Amino acid sequence: MGASDDLGQAGSVREWLRGLEVFAGPLADFDPAGAPAEPVDLFLGWLTAAVEAGVPDAHAMTLSTVGEDGGPDARVLILKNVDADGWQFAVHAGSPKGRQLADLPRAALTFYWPLQGRQVRVRGTVEPASPEQSAADLLARAPSARAEALLGRQSGHLESAGERDRAFRAALARIESDPALISTEWTLYTLVPIAIEFWQADKDRVHTRLRYERPDRHSPWERHMLWP
Ligand SMILES: Cc1cc2nc3c(=O)[nH]c(=O)nc-3n(C[C@H](O)[C@H](O)[C@H](O)COP(=O)(O)O)c2cc1C
Repeated sequence: MGASDDLGQAGSVREWLRGLEVFAGPLADFDPAGAPAEPVDLFLGWLTAAVEAGVPDAHAMTLSTVGEDGGPDARVLILKNVDADGWQFAVHAGSPKGRQLADLPRAALTFYWPLQGRQVRVRGTVEPASPEQSAADLLARAPSARAEALLGRQSGHLESAGERDRAFRAALARIESDPALISTEWTLYTLVPIAIEFWQADKDRVHTRLRYERPDRHSPWERHMLWP
């Protein structure tokens, strides 16, 4: 009997989901009146609070892109850096997301930190870093992560786990004999934001939302509260 059969006896999936708690907390406070002029400062404050409270993988985020069929695509990535220019992540340029960003260099990032009940949404344009910066990012990673980058063909159909493991061992051996070896397709990107929303959950569902907006990267930020 599968899990769905078990649920079928106990009640519908819909009822089961409705019974699950959300915003269990303890939840954080957010007063937009005290928000800094620079959204990066607020983001770093929220990220620090999440890390210090023990939110697992607090620096993981969903990157949303537009697929070649015009439909949305999304996956989780690790945040590499944030500064006045924007939010950085690193991926293989030949992967589906890398190709999608080459076709349409616009994207969105979504963070969720459940202990605080906080979501951050970032939208903007995406720019690749220089080959030197991308190489430095890859060289700072563990040999196994660099070997994975050398594999290429990410998200292509795989015939067997054995084929993958043989290719991985061969890539690791190449790195051991040539420690400076990198995949030139490994690319660091910066999402330069035009909109950043800070969303704070409230147990009574009167959520607090603050969006920083600007028409382009050279304009100053405007701040607007949003209806929940
Ligand atoms: C927590 C977490 C962190 C990840 N970090 C990265 C990352 O930094 N870079 C990356 O290319 N893929 C990362 N992945 C894998 C991606 O989610 C995705 O499966 C892979 O990059 C293929 O995506 P694509 O087919 O859309 O190109 C991560 C997955 C998880 C769950």
